[in-house]
Amino acid sequence: MPNYIIEGGKRLEGEVVVSGSKNASLPIMAAAILNAGTTKLYNIPKIRDTRITQDILKFLGCKVKRGNDKIEIQAKNIHRKEIPEDLMHQMRSTVILAGALLGRFKEAKFSYPGGCDIGARPIDLHLESFKKLGINITEEGGFIVCKCDKIMGAKIDLDFPSVGATENIILASVYAEGVTKITNAAMEPEIVDLADCLNKMGAKIEGAGTNVIQITGVKRLKDISYTVMPDRIEAGTLLCMIAATGGKAKLKQVVPEHISPVLNKLRECGCKIVESKNEIEIEAPKKLKPVDIKTMPYPGFPTDMQSVFASMLTTAKGTSMIIENIFENRYRYIPELRRMGAKAVIEGKTAVITGVRKLSGTTVKSTDLRGGAALVTAGLCAKGKTKVTDIEYILRGYEKLEEKLTSLGAIIYKEEGE
Ligand code: UD1
Repeated sequence: MPNYIIEGGKRLEGEVVVSGSKNASLPIMAAAILNAGTTKLYNIPKIRDTRITQDILKFLGCKVKRGNDKIEIQAKNIHRKEIPEDLMHQMRSTVILAGALLGRFKEAKFSYPGGCDIGARPIDLHLESFKKLGINITEEGGFIVCKCDKIMGAKIDLDFPSVGATENIILASVYAEGVTKITNAAMEPEIVDLADCLNKMGAKIEGAGTNVIQITGVKRLKDISYTVMPDRIEAGTLLCMIAATGGKAKLKQVVPEHISPVLNKLRECGCKIVESKNEIEIEAPKKLKPVDIKTMPYPGFPTDMQSVFASMLTTAKGTSMIIENIFENRYRYIPELRRMGAKAVIEGKTAVITGVRKLSGTTVKSTDLRGGAALVTAGLCAKGKTKVTDIEYILRGYEKLEEKLTSLGAIIYKEEGE
């Protein structure tokens, strides 16, 4: 696995373009299964998670052509409805492909998904929802086998507004008989992007972006071209990295309202933020003020930003309190930050961070995607050289991270590890 080497202490300045959203690309690539023709998608980031999805689509029988940020998926001749175990284990969001296979073929076979180890991450809400749609679920030799003759529209009240479960219900019910109504649905922008893409194909989905989503089954979908939304978590990550170095920069191709809670917290830290239609400018103070954050489902503060934000706060002037409400195992990066001199204690869901004057560079290990990004943030503002190992995790979700940071004046490069 390669490592990142970072020479810290460089103030980030300049302009950077945000890539397409990972978390919107994955369900939208799955949605292409529902169209028996060709779906052309743009702004798909070139990262490991989209490559794995692409490999599974090919395995199922899709023809996939990949350009730079473009992907063309021809799903006419899908001949397999089973997601291979090794690929399923590499990424949790492969479970989304089940909803799409069920929607189109009324059958899907898969094992329990993998992904970053940030908590238990069960799929009970997905499976319960499938059952409500009339899908029969059995377990055979470690595989979950889902089958039915017809998907029947149903009322589904989610116990928790799960992003993945909401996406899976939408995908499974696009061709259902009648109407499916999801209450307590997730309201994330990625859900809106999926619904917009499917509606462009001819689906009938109303209410995406609110907590009640209604899907009226249709008979067929058509070929389309669709451009995926910008990655709001990459945007938030870059802003925190810039702020951690006391920098001043502009982000392009971003939707500021998607990260309002992050922008508000950065303002509370003393950053000047100017939002325009597709751009955000940030100017950080020399020393950040501490703030408290609590992760919540959208439109609350995103759990995916918790680690990077906390890392930025390790050199703020005072004490910050973080509460992680979504995933129970999302503080695994904190012991690594401590090795760089951060003062942070964890108590259950809470982390208390007392700002120090400077972190010092050392060797630290990525624990998961966003935890890895938190260590890069720390390395950028630390004194001396930081080596971040196990960066495969980071490469799953950030496109050209080191190139983007280099263009802002950071010194960061990849080194081949053992
Ligand atoms: C998605 C995002 C991930 C983000 C998360 C929360 C993708 C590919 N990933 O993940 O980056 O951190 O939303 O914003 O879009 N839960 C259950 N049972 C279920 C499903 C979920 O208990 O069947 C729990 C999870 O364990 C977790 C919470 O619900 O505690 C949120 O999970 P969910 O919203 O489903 O997240 P993902 O879709 O996995």
